[in-house]
Amino acid sequence: EKGGHDYFMLKEIAEQPQAIADTLLGRLSDRGEIVLDEVRLTDQDLRDVDKIFIVACGTSYHAGMVAKYAIEHWVRIPCEVELASEFRYRDPILDRSTLVVAISQSGESMDTLMALRHAKEQKARVLAICNTNGSTIPRESDAVLYTHGGPEIAVASTKAFLTQLVACYLIGLHLAQIRGVMYADEVAAVVEKLQRTPDSLRTLLGQMEDVRELARDLKTASTVLFIGRHVGYPVALEGALKLKELAYMHAEGFAAGELKHGPIALIDEGTPVVCVVPSPAGRGVMRDKVVSNIQEVRARGARTIVIAEEGDEDVRAYADHLIPVPATPTLLAPLMTTVPLQILACEIAAARGHDVDQPRNLAKSVTVE
Ligand code: M6R
Repeated sequence: EKGGHDYFMLKEIAEQPQAIADTLLGRLSDRGEIVLDEVRLTDQDLRDVDKIFIVACGTSYHAGMVAKYAIEHWVRIPCEVELASEFRYRDPILDRSTLVVAISQSGESMDTLMALRHAKEQKARVLAICNTNGSTIPRESDAVLYTHGGPEIAVASTKAFLTQLVACYLIGLHLAQIRGVMYADEVAAVVEKLQRTPDSLRTLLGQMEDVRELARDLKTASTVLFIGRHVGYPVALEGALKLKELAYMHAEGFAAGELKHGPIALIDEGTPVVCVVPSPAGRGVMRDKVVSNIQEVRARGARTIVIAEEGDEDVRAYADHLIPVPATPTLLAPLMTTVPLQILACEIAAARGHDVDQPRNLAKSVTVE
């Protein structure tokens, strides 16, 4: 049932290329428009949207953080991302021109469901991104985009995360198109890049032996820090969450630009710091900023584990350990950079003798507060 893998988590990591391909399947209509699954909203309703709130928990929240970068860039309307557990108890400013996007693998997370109901009471429109057909969150939403990841058994979310990212990209492109901010051919160009990611990911998955070795090395670390910028920041948070939940190790993710505002004081001789480096393509400003952050932590003794685009040879000089990932457009990069972090956490947990699929104190679906 684990398809020859030691854990469901490893099986689900391996299924990610297919899960992405399945989530993309049939999404582009003959007219070049993105097709959602269940839409009880008119195009006019979506044109009237003047603000987006994304609500979610845990890994799904990290997908939402990535989505904010893509949606604001493509759609040009404000997009906030909030933990559902916070949103549901505060007084957010919502009305019928607010679109609330609820992201949930299970479709049953209590906090996300309550956030959605809270939004509906104030007449906001609700769109769900969900992996479980017919679950409560999509049932109560005005529109749904299902991630076709297939069942996720391991408590740690992997393929659900990558397919949530794909769903977020599709929603961003859909909104941009119907609002006239992007033309059909521009949308099709991004979809084409998305369609190439499963192949890139297959290649990447075939090159993870080094990461496994690294995991054996890191299993006794007392803390592991993760840094990133832009869409690499939520990837850093996701890498840290995986390590906490699976390996029961202290781990923290930071926006690299925040290091000097406090966290850099944590760096000691040998502290492992995982650095998610943006692509050097384009202006490459962010990439250079992260590289200088890497130099800063290294100068203070950090052991740097650097995830960077293949061909970015210059980062080698600052990497104690380099993990190259296939080139991908900046906004789509989390589809690549997250994967070594999933494997790292899984292998460290296994090396420490933990039950990877069923970590202590956690449930797959959190249906209580
Ligand atoms: O089913 P959901 O997407 O609503 O679940 C949200 C979180 O509970 C979930 O992502 C959790 O953080 C995972 N165990 C992380 O790997």
